[in-house]
Amino acid sequence: MARRRLIAANWKMNKTPEETEAFVRSFLPEAARQASLEVLLLPPFTSLDRAGRLLVGTGIALGAQDLHFEAAGAFTGEVSAAMLSACGCRYVLVGHSERRALLREDDALVNRKLRRAVASGLVPILCVGETLAERRGGETERRIAAQLAAALDGVESRDVRPLIIAYEPVWAIGTGEAASPAAAEEVMGRIRETVGSAHGKEAREGVRLLYGGSVTPQNIASFLDRPDIDGALVGGASLRPDALARIVAAASSERA
Ligand code: PGA
Repeated sequence: MARRRLIAANWKMNKTPEETEAFVRSFLPEAARQASLEVLLLPPFTSLDRAGRLLVGTGIALGAQDLHFEAAGAFTGEVSAAMLSACGCRYVLVGHSERRALLREDDALVNRKLRRAVASGLVPILCVGETLAERRGGETERRIAAQLAAALDGVESRDVRPLIIAYEPVWAIGTGEAASPAAAEEVMGRIRETVGSAHGKEAREGVRLLYGGSVTPQNIASFLDRPDIDGALVGGASLRPDALARIVAAASSERA
């Protein structure tokens, strides 16, 4: 089964609506439409509406960095799935390691958010990854398996098929020290097997796996060379339109 490649730009807490608009206007002409490749922008909440309007009809997808696990109600400061969809979002990140570490999001909360996304028609991008201490302690496999099992608990197999899983070793995020493609592929191959054992062959073949952590225009091709790596979740290098365009161009030419 051919899985469509995905390059997702996680802007984190960067860019006002004006800066978002300037980015999109400069990025669009550089990002030639590629049928084989999907490009996704993940701006902060306050830029979603503006980005959604600018991206209509461009072929570039929009997503959010987080959502609340309830549909609506008295949750001061939170943003619901329906609000994201209304801005034009198709995707939403769930369980990014910065939220897990800095805002104490645990596996149970990640599960609730993932299920809300699925129930609301958003495609979740589930982020998993081990810390440096876990890697040094030989805990990587166990930690990733636990994150997957908890996040996907109670999710139907048919809902796992469009799912996207981003493997982001915490020690590689924003450090300039990407994992080696071979090490990433090893973990990601296991993620695919785990999804397959729990949800069957179609889910195994269909789930798209992204690598994230210090991806650059220079190293993107080495990750996409690997059969289990279907794309990338890019932070720092996605903040400049020219750098993101170079990543997209490298990803487009990599796999026929
Ligand atoms: P980075 O961030 O590319 O800046 O390492 C990736 C991420 O956190 O999604």
